[in-house]
Amino acid sequence: MDRNEKIIRSTDYDALSCRISACKKHYLDDKYLQNVIHGLEKFLRFENKISSRRVFNGIVNSVKLPIINRGTYIRTKSIDYVIEEFLREFDGQQVQIVNLGAGSDTRAFQILASRENINWVEFDFKDSTKLKKAIITTDQVLANAVGVDFVPVDDFEIFYTELDDTLISEKYKLISIDLRDIETLKTIISTELDLNAPTLIISECMLCYTESSVSTNIIQSIRSHFTKGVFAIYDPIGGEDNFGSVMIDNLKIRNISMPSLLEFNTLEKYSQRLQELGIKD
Ligand SMILES: C[S@@+](CC[C@H](N)C(=O)[O-])C[C@H]1O[C@@H](n2cnc3c(N)ncnc32)[C@H](O)[C@@H]1O
Repeated sequence: MDRNEKIIRSTDYDALSCRISACKKHYLDDKYLQNVIHGLEKFLRFENKISSRRVFNGIVNSVKLPIINRGTYIRTKSIDYVIEEFLREFDGQQVQIVNLGAGSDTRAFQILASRENINWVEFDFKDSTKLKKAIITTDQVLANAVGVDFVPVDDFEIFYTELDDTLISEKYKLISIDLRDIETLKTIISTELDLNAPTLIISECMLCYTESSVSTNIIQSIRSHFTKGVFAIYDPIGGEDNFGSVMIDNLKIRNISMPSLLEFNTLEKYSQRLQELGIKD
């Protein structure tokens, strides 16, 4: 795994620790979160042998400031709201939901466990999809939710070493890809997605870590394949205020940048960016 990829992947641990904190403080309720945490505890050590305990403790024990918990609440609920609206609009039809950079997101479990007629597709880097596959397949509840076989495991290390990074069921696909690789993205869109189903594309804090020209290509490549669809993009914009400059400084320490943050620094500019790609507000 290249270093840049590892750094970007670590942002999922930030997102997860924010969700854990928001749940602890009862801002959110996520009945699958504990299963994901148990899985992470089992498997994180095989991908990060030296500091996995410290990383794991950092994820599960951190208590965030109220401003962060509130932000996590708004972020989570706003995407949930778009999903609910989308499902309501196409009620009874076969639909598709594609999550770009899904990380440890638990919505697939929540929604697929209780709804029919949905194909749920998640993309992330291969080490992230492998870890998520391990977590899902060795947990009866998570495996049932997405319709894959539960795998009882005696030796987690052997299991993890031999595991691949893709998981496919009738209603759920977990696909490994570096989304910046546009040619592979186009191939996967053509071969793995249903191009005729009404489709909701979610990008929750994924595009923001990508060079703007590349994230524009990602949006454009997806857009050009579908006739009916909705984009739900949750990206930080702006960054000139106090909150933004603290965030930028904190990310810089970890060698993380958000290339589109200051370029599309208002809602109008971000919206115009999408309109120029043929996406209506
Ligand atoms: C901040 S996390 C957000 C995770 C999840 N969407 C959420 O909001 O909880 C960003 C995720 O996007 C993934 N990601 C970022 N750039 C990516 C790329 N080029 N290809 C695949 N996945 C990517 C990271 O690995 C990580 O899981």
